[in-house]
Amino acid sequence: MRSKGKVFLLDDDKLITSMLSRALNSEGYEVSAETTADDIINKIQNLSPDIVMLDINLPEKSGIDILQEIKGMGTNTQVIMLTADDTAETAVRAMKLGAADYLTKPFNIEEVKIIINNTIEKTRLKQEVDFLRKVNCESFEKDIIGESIIIKGLKSKIDKITDAHVSTILITGESGTGKELIARHIHYSLHSLCFSHYAPFIGINCAALPELLLESELFGYEKGAFTDAKSDKKGLFELAGEGTLLLDEIGEMKMSLQSKLLRVIEERTIRRIGGKEEIPVNATVISTTNRNLSEAVERGEFRMDLFYRLNTFSLHIPPLRDRKEDIPILARYFLSYFSTRYNKKTIKGFSSETEQCMLTYNWPGNIRELKNVIERIVVLENTEMILPEHLPKEFTTLALTAKTELKDSFILPETGINLDELEKNLILQALKKARNNKTIAAKLLNVSYDSLRYQIKKFGLE
Ligand SMILES: Nc1ncnc2c1ncn2[C@@H]1O[C@H](COP(=O)(O)OP(=O)(O)OP(=O)(O)O)[C@@H](O)[C@H]1O
Ligand SMILES: [Mg+2]
Repeated sequence: MRSKGKVFLLDDDKLITSMLSRALNSEGYEVSAETTADDIINKIQNLSPDIVMLDINLPEKSGIDILQEIKGMGTNTQVIMLTADDTAETAVRAMKLGAADYLTKPFNIEEVKIIINNTIEKTRLKQEVDFLRKVNCESFEKDIIGESIIIKGLKSKIDKITDAHVSTILITGESGTGKELIARHIHYSLHSLCFSHYAPFIGINCAALPELLLESELFGYEKGAFTDAKSDKKGLFELAGEGTLLLDEIGEMKMSLQSKLLRVIEERTIRRIGGKEEIPVNATVISTTNRNLSEAVERGEFRMDLFYRLNTFSLHIPPLRDRKEDIPILARYFLSYFSTRYNKKTIKGFSSETEQCMLTYNWPGNIRELKNVIERIVVLENTEMILPEHLPKEFTTLALTAKTELKDSFILPETGINLDELEKNLILQALKKARNNKTIAAKLLNVSYDSLRYQIKKFGLE
């Protein structure tokens, strides 16, 4: 039988140690026992037991001192105190010093088994929670990829906002532009020590719940506040603690709830539904929306006062088609990300035609769409180079139309043209579109980087 855990007993009464040893052995625990405190810390360290059962009154040394030394070891060993007198005082003192529990002599053996079992279970759960927190903290995507001027500007604004520890932030942008990613990035920047000081990140979608349910989720309620309120319930503002509360799709929140939210944001306290107590709100509140809130204000669908309050610290993420320089960077990033994740390293990169198609496409689903496209290719295609035919149909048809449009729409005038002037003009347009990035400009013109450089020199466009 697999051992249920290691138990170390220390009691100067031999009768007690042998009685407990027998009972716990038969329950499947691995038991070691000592009757003197000599060299006890060394012995405990060598054995590293899950539980030490420790007599409070030992002739050589006080059990309380030993407890403190065990706690000082910084291991997961739990201590259960064995006390002869049933005055609560000593036991309470031991608990304050970190004992997991205590048992009063004479023992009821069933009670001993229950307490040991519960203590081991509690330790196991704590280790599991610590582990999951750590994994959660490390594995959440929080890196903002992109080198465009827009993304660089956004990152520097994010740094300023996090450095100032502002309490309310608004993030706007089309669907899939990375609003939640930026919210998480802010959260992890504020709580980089998230393993030792756990600060939760809690999100709620304001469009997904009916108004009353959303209100009770956000604010919580007291028992009896309404028919279904059978017991007290904490709201998300409370549960978010010192962490972050993400109010997703804030633009969809009903007007009456908007005014309650404004009050919370201004006063930094909440009252549970049916409650009287003012509970402080310490969390950072991040709202996101893909709606244009100032237009919603004009249409009378969003409160102006709330809009101004939320908009004090706002981050707008432009759509991907407005920062095309980031497309190849993100595409390569997702290629390497999914190649690692699916352990499929066949694909080495994108052909220049494919990059061209990706640059021409207008990405209505933004980065989420790009990420999904690359994930699909990594999983389904066995190719070394990603070619246009591996992209979804929309991409290639669009690129083809773009090409045909140009061919058919350009009609040489009777009087002829100055080809050099036209070429020069198109190069200038491409450079402007690419914000002077020659690689992108070359792609826009479908020429190589070197030939673009040659042309730039030739026309004196440097
Ligand atoms: N700059 C970026 N770098 C890397 N990954 C990104 C970036 N921006 C977005 N992503 C990824 O794109 C996906 C969509 O991002 P996210 O969920 O944050 O978008 P959103 O703006 O909240 O969208 P919606 O409005 O639909 O909720 C996520 O998987 C996210 O990790
Ligand atoms: Mg989102």
